[in-house]
Amino acid sequence: MPVTAGGHHWLLVRDGARIVAAERACPHEGADLALGRCAGGRLLCPRHLASFDLRDGSVSPGWSFRALRLFAVETVSDGLWLRLGDSVRKQTS
Ligand code: FES
Repeated sequence: MPVTAGGHHWLLVRDGARIVAAERACPHEGADLALGRCAGGRLLCPRHLASFDLRDGSVSPGWSFRALRLFAVETVSDGLWLRLGDSVRKQTS
């Protein structure tokens, strides 16, 4: 699910029982990862088909660009909190 928080675009991804926030643009050439899909704990980029481990953002073997940035998400009674570095921003939709 794509969301905007703190003036940036994020992607909320369910990985089993856990929800993680990821940067929405692929670190390779900026493809919209909201158009990708998840399988086996990995997020697949729709453009060149690299995939990212949803535990640490590491990219699949054979690629040399940086890992996908991931952020913790807390579920609370009236929404979700994204932990973006030192700051925490609330996402209610
Ligand atoms: S733009 Fe995502 S792998 Fe190339």
